[in-house]
Amino acid sequence: MKDIIVIASGKGGTGKSTVAVGLGTALAHDGCRVLLIDCDSGMRGLDIMLGVTQNLVFDIADAVSGSCTVENTVYPCPDKKGLFLMPAPLNAYDEVAPQILGQLVEGVADIFDYVIIDSPAGVGSGFEAAIYPAKRALVVVNTEPTSIRGGQTVAGKLRGCGIEDIRLVINRFNKQTFRKMGLYRDLDEIIDITALRLIGIIPEDYSLAAAIQSGKSGSMTAPAMKALENISQRIRGRLVPLMIK
Ligand SMILES: Nc1ncnc2c1ncn2[C@@H]1O[C@H](COP(=O)(O)OP(=O)(O)OP(=O)(O)O)[C@@H](O)[C@H]1O
Ligand SMILES: [Mg+2]
Repeated sequence: MKDIIVIASGKGGTGKSTVAVGLGTALAHDGCRVLLIDCDSGMRGLDIMLGVTQNLVFDIADAVSGSCTVENTVYPCPDKKGLFLMPAPLNAYDEVAPQILGQLVEGVADIFDYVIIDSPAGVGSGFEAAIYPAKRALVVVNTEPTSIRGGQTVAGKLRGCGIEDIRLVINRFNKQTFRKMGLYRDLDEIIDITALRLIGIIPEDYSLAAAIQSGKSGSMTAPAMKALENISQRIRGRLVPLMIK
């Protein structure tokens, strides 16, 4: 059965898009058919991260306006069998309303095992649209108070929309920096503050950031990619021990 997961954070730049692409890549690598939906209208970026920019003709807004079918907005990612992208509108004013996005997703979701929705920063209308079709959510935080506050805020909004299955991703974890900053006793303290169940800790890893930013997320050797693979396994319901504790 299709599983529709939104990646959220509240605060910008915590790594939502990186997690969406890494997770989609890991699930596709494991044999799943995965649709990534870019909901960051006006700040479209997943096409770059997935190396499909040259192929794009239509986006979500074109399907809404009737210029194309919803299937026309689904692009296969080169070199990543099983991974597909539905790009965000280029213009922020073409942002899609929640119910409309829900209908679009319903129209294509059945041919995928997983639909991953990358939400924009903040809790505005773009965020509301992104969470509307979702059945479960990953909240991405870094080890800083502002990011954790953002995580708490979006978790509240997600619950308010009836999404109960919300899991925490701690991204860009760097043990040395974490100790030097001394803001938290340990990672358990962060998990306690958010009151969310942890699904994974992704290390700070510039080789992963570079691979994803250059559209080469297929590079499965980066240490952070291993963490994303583990998260993908946990999403599939498998028991995988945490790498960092
Ligand atoms: N684990 C990581 N290690 C190193 N760099 C990372 C990691 N995760 C993300 N980054 C970097 O952090 C920056 C922000 O990442 P990303 O664009 O995925 O965040 P975002 O939450 O989607 O941002 P926005 O809110 O603007 O959509 C990028 O430069 C990305 O390469
Ligand atoms: Mg993003």
